[in-house]
Amino acid sequence: MNQNELKKVLSKLSLGDVRYFDSIGSTNSEALAWATGGAKDLSLVIADEQTAGRGRLDRKWFTPKGTALAFSLILRPRAEEKPYLSRMVGLAALAVTDSLRTRGLVSQIKWPNDVLLNGRKVAGILVETVWSGEEVDGLVIGIGMNILKDAVPPADVLTFPATSLEESLGSLVEREKMLQDILAGIIVLRPHLGSDSFIASWEKALAFRGEQVQAEQGDGSPLIGKLLGLESDGSLRLSIEEGKSITVRFGDVRLRPKA
Ligand code: ATP
Ligand code: BTN
Repeated sequence: MNQNELKKVLSKLSLGDVRYFDSIGSTNSEALAWATGGAKDLSLVIADEQTAGRGRLDRKWFTPKGTALAFSLILRPRAEEKPYLSRMVGLAALAVTDSLRTRGLVSQIKWPNDVLLNGRKVAGILVETVWSGEEVDGLVIGIGMNILKDAVPPADVLTFPATSLEESLGSLVEREKMLQDILAGIIVLRPHLGSDSFIASWEKALAFRGEQVQAEQGDGSPLIGKLLGLESDGSLRLSIEEGKSITVRFGDVRLRPKA
């Protein structure tokens, strides 16, 4: 990454400390260790390449050198944020969709942790927690975004179609500026985490809203219903039959449009 440009954009934000790596296993793993070791609020780990990038449940996230954004932001949750930590994945997803909107792109959130452009995955989010006894001491918000076409993994490793910004815009996007916009979005949205309007914005950005979807659970059992919206904690609400709705909680759930 262009170090001068990176320094310039990051200096415009009130971050904690920053660690940059040309290559790393996973920025989330580095950030988790750093958060455990006392990193300040809004400290950032960013890398040009990940060799062991992680999705949920240790699925692989590909970040080839020079093609993508891969970073992890450490938050020290404030007392007033603690009741709403399950909303953080939505906060990160909204910051990503906002950053795309300013580039003229309409994106959607595939609940719980992916951002889609033209129905394909362009970014993924992994939020992990550092505990101190029963208390959450830190959160790591990891975001990966495919900037260039070369960031997109081959189809045989994908369980859902993927795309890149280059594919949608047809022009090159400055990674450093994109990073700045996403981080600025997180910082701006953070004070609104507990508000009803936050849930409303998150809901509005959901892919497949009002459509029939299939939520495949880890044990293989599919739940089928119409995607209604979100509960206050960010869980998904599906209507399974007239007048009857169910809640799908965060966990090993893969959302798909109903075949
Ligand atoms: P889904 O199959 O609906 O994407 P999931 O829950 O199985 O969801 P996630 O944990 O959200 O998967 O994301 C990890 C998956 O994303 C990997 O198993 C892989 O298929 C895919 N993937 C890995 N790297 C990328 C990338 N750079 N861009 C898009 N998709 C990727
Ligand atoms: C997913 O879709 O499952 C989430 C993917 C999250 C990938 C990002 S890239 C930066 C950070 N470091 C990681 O190892 N994972 C996250």
